[in-house]
Amino acid sequence: MTLSAHAFAGLEPQKPDALLALIAQYRADPRADKIDVGVGVYRTETGETPVMRAVKDAEAALLSGQDSKSYLGAEGDQRFAQLIWQLISGKEQLGAHCFGLQTPGGTGALRVGAELLARARPDARVWIGEPTWPNHAPIFREAGLQVRTHAYLDASGGHIDFDAVISALTEAASGDVLLLHGCCHNPTGTQFSGEQWMALSDLCNRRGLVPFIDLAYQGLGDGMDEDAQGARRMLAAVPDALLAYSCDKNFAVYRDRVGALFVQSGTEQSLELARGNALTIARSLWSMPPDHGAAVVRTILDDPALRTVWENELAGMRDRLQAVRQGLAAAHPLLTSVATQRGLFSLLPLSVEAVAAVRRTHGIYMPADGRINLAGLNQANLGRFVPGVLPHLLARDTSIFQSAKSQELSA
Ligand code: LMR
Repeated sequence: MTLSAHAFAGLEPQKPDALLALIAQYRADPRADKIDVGVGVYRTETGETPVMRAVKDAEAALLSGQDSKSYLGAEGDQRFAQLIWQLISGKEQLGAHCFGLQTPGGTGALRVGAELLARARPDARVWIGEPTWPNHAPIFREAGLQVRTHAYLDASGGHIDFDAVISALTEAASGDVLLLHGCCHNPTGTQFSGEQWMALSDLCNRRGLVPFIDLAYQGLGDGMDEDAQGARRMLAAVPDALLAYSCDKNFAVYRDRVGALFVQSGTEQSLELARGNALTIARSLWSMPPDHGAAVVRTILDDPALRTVWENELAGMRDRLQAVRQGLAAAHPLLTSVATQRGLFSLLPLSVEAVAAVRRTHGIYMPADGRINLAGLNQANLGRFVPGVLPHLLARDTSIFQSAKSQELSA
């Protein structure tokens, strides 16, 4: 036996990531009429995920104009962070009580934030409404924090059960963390109303909870400003908060991994402590974030003409998603909530067996929970998708999500 086999022999075998495995399965399927509603990338009416025109133009400008690739530091591109802060907050400058740090994607932001919380509050529990993006809980657990899941959806599976959310959170203790999707919830497409955001911020203040907002789909719901309203309300109402931002979807720079972490704290001293610790965490994780994608986004946002091109492209993406939602919602009464949801995703009322059956029989690819990426649908394939899934639709039984209510997951 080799030395390396000994070195790793004690490791637990790992299941491959289900979503990434689905991408490979879809690629390997030889059927010409297969339909990919799996991984969350935007697709055009003809099924492509193109590089946005504004991104191409910014890349051309960078190629000719960039005069150095020297290191920037663990905080990355600070102008980029400032411009993203403007998109989030609607304010020109990062305030005295907030700092931003460029990260590799929203995942990098979540991970630095999780590590920061683990240093600041090692006993904190992170409360996450289920269902959620499957990577959320692992990110917090890998940082050493305990994760507790709570109820989120109503019995129909199409709407938030806000009373259940609030009642589950009565078990949260001061210092615990509340993970919130800023808009376009993944996987359900649901969103908190303005009133619900206010109630959540009251709850955070009353119970001493720290909100951690994951804002990964700004602009793909109702508009750039509209999709930031919840985060704005929360940030204005609480002293301490974290926000993980992703540009991967709204600038379609997925594989460039473009994101930022923002941390807000009530006093200058605590903010400085948070900044210093976040920088040492980032330094030990990736030393400095990759520059290219953030430089592209900065170039677009700093140039009024490019910015307009990008805003128009993003509006086109948003409008197409809305049109697909309307079309699908009209197909069956059990799908009507799809029209009230936003962003790339909705959760269809399908059993795990039905998801496997539609994959086998019709070449329709979605994760086992029945999440679909609306952008994978178009005029050409909707006529095959709808009859493929309709016979399998069921009145959703949310017990699979709610059984996890308040259940402590092993760390
Ligand atoms: C998704 O949920 O499909 C995307 O956010 C891709 C990913 O990394 O899981």
